[in-house]
Amino acid sequence: MPGICIVGAQWGDEGKGKITDLLAERAEMIVRFQGGNNAGHTIVRGGEEFKFHLIPSGILHSDKLCAIGNGVVLDPRILWEEIDGLRRRGVDVANLRVSANAHLIMPYHVLLDTAGEMKLGKLSIGTTRRGIGPCYADKAARLGIRVQDLLDPKILRKKIMAAMEPKRLSLRPFEKDPLLDLHAMTEEYVTYGHRLEPYIADTARLCWEALDGGDTVIFEGAQATLLDLDHGTYPFVTSSNPVAGAACIGAGVGPHDIDEVWGVVKAYQTRVGAGPFPTELEDEVGARLVEAGHEFGTTTGRRRRTGWLDLVALRYAVRLNRMDYLAVTKLDVLTGVEPLRVAVRYRSSEGAVFDEFPYHQSILHSASAEYEELPGWTEPVGDCRTQADLPAPARDFLRYVSDFVGVPIRLAGVGPDRDQVIWLGDEPALRAA
Ligand code: IMP
Repeated sequence: MPGICIVGAQWGDEGKGKITDLLAERAEMIVRFQGGNNAGHTIVRGGEEFKFHLIPSGILHSDKLCAIGNGVVLDPRILWEEIDGLRRRGVDVANLRVSANAHLIMPYHVLLDTAGEMKLGKLSIGTTRRGIGPCYADKAARLGIRVQDLLDPKILRKKIMAAMEPKRLSLRPFEKDPLLDLHAMTEEYVTYGHRLEPYIADTARLCWEALDGGDTVIFEGAQATLLDLDHGTYPFVTSSNPVAGAACIGAGVGPHDIDEVWGVVKAYQTRVGAGPFPTELEDEVGARLVEAGHEFGTTTGRRRRTGWLDLVALRYAVRLNRMDYLAVTKLDVLTGVEPLRVAVRYRSSEGAVFDEFPYHQSILHSASAEYEELPGWTEPVGDCRTQADLPAPARDFLRYVSDFVGVPIRLAGVGPDRDQVIWLGDEPALRAA
């Protein structure tokens, strides 16, 4: 199956990096299609930890082509730090490609992101303050600066001037900030251009060539379905579309190029930043999930909010992305949690029952979740490698989830290491490699 899309099914941090890393074994190319360095993947390989914000996690396989697609917003300073960091650890990055059409996060985007959040005060979104929203806003306003502009200092300078002009008022508090000096900014970005030039490419064409040649291409999503700009818990969302449909736009392929959609879901729920969270646990069970699951953001280090697995939201995500398979991560974190709960419907403050994810913001904000209680297990599962190794309640938990949302679970993660996984059901062809 040549085109495989991997997306998050919750509010991010589901462990997509690990699943991508595993599936990438069989793929020839991995392409990221949206988001920026608001994302963070941690991959543990042979006891060594790798953190990525921009570069697809497939880069650890030296024979795979890894692309940053046109749909990504890219902070060149961060990208350069990642490239440099990997090279210093002996990881070959010669197979990295960066779309010439990807938009650049500029210093003023970062400043405006922070200023916007401060202005919102209590109503703030809790963004990662990496400039993501302002950068996508400029892209839509056709004031964006793209990777290809780095290669022409004259054009770059003109575009920076044009982009900053309408922001004069909002940038006034930063007038004296050296980061905003036109000359210095142009110089700095030209330097990134020189460094990144060997990696700049027409990544859409590279995808077509790979797909047309029968290669397997993985479309790697960042963030997740419930943070989708159109379909998530707006306005508490990111400024891009992390759903599978966006892989076409963000990588430059057609819907027929995607043969499988994999959704990655944690065995419980987490969220960073503000916004509705019907299954949130603000008690000792929630604190236990934070501790056992090390629920602190890779990007900002913020403590994640935790809660019970929300099957109403998961069924919504399954349909929205038309998922073929699920990968359930962090099953081990649920060891010792008794009883286990999963949300199966919501009830609004007026008492109305919602079996489906409500589209109305006010309902979602005030909805409380209603649960099915499932038996827990006490045995550590980190050493389980087959379904049969799992305690019966853990198997039942997975079966319940799969039946509820109507999608087979193909993988279950039982620990941070890449070999701490269980393949369920038929061995996928992917495993053959
Ligand atoms: P932004 O993407 O930085 O604009 O942040 C918007 C919202 O998305 C905030 O609630 C962030 O916490 C959340 N967010 C962005 N990226 C990630 C991610 O990779 N994992 C989890 N939450 C994220």
